[in-house]
Amino acid sequence: MASIAAADVPDMDKRNTMNLVLLGGATSVTLGLAGPFFYFFVPKGAGGGGGAQAAKDALGNDVKASEWVKTHLPGDRSLTQGLKGDPTYLVVTEDKSIEKFGINGVCTHLGCVVPWVTAENKFKCPCHGSQYNAQGKVVRGPAPLSLALAHADVNDDGIVEFSPWTETDFRTDSAPWWK
Ligand code: FES
Repeated sequence: MASIAAADVPDMDKRNTMNLVLLGGATSVTLGLAGPFFYFFVPKGAGGGGGAQAAKDALGNDVKASEWVKTHLPGDRSLTQGLKGDPTYLVVTEDKSIEKFGINGVCTHLGCVVPWVTAENKFKCPCHGSQYNAQGKVVRGPAPLSLALAHADVNDDGIVEFSPWTETDFRTDSAPWWK
């Protein structure tokens, strides 16, 4: 009886092989399901990798730096479409070039788009009165945080491109809250 039972049990090599096959199958199924599951929770564009994107004007055309500075005065702050479609101010410097950073126009209080008020040299939110200085640093609440920044660079074709700002916020000397 004992010898019959022993003959029914596969030898050690076979059992090891079967275990490996089983483990491999289970692992591939688990990874196959877990990948999309975790990907679902990663916001699009998060992580601040390269991700340069052309600034778009009101008509949806790429912003050409040379044309833009012809029609916008030094100190001008005008809205363009920025990263993730956010309204983003393009700044013209005093020497008529494009400032190295764009300023996200979305109020950090409850999300109204904040207009630039040239006469007062500041951004003033019409919704609850928050104010930001010319660089978008919050100077009056209830907004808790400064306006987000994005890099603004001119590419080889002369087009203005925004890319994620992941470095220290130079206005507050702290890590960027929007990262
Ligand atoms: S949304 Fe701007 S102050 Fe409230």
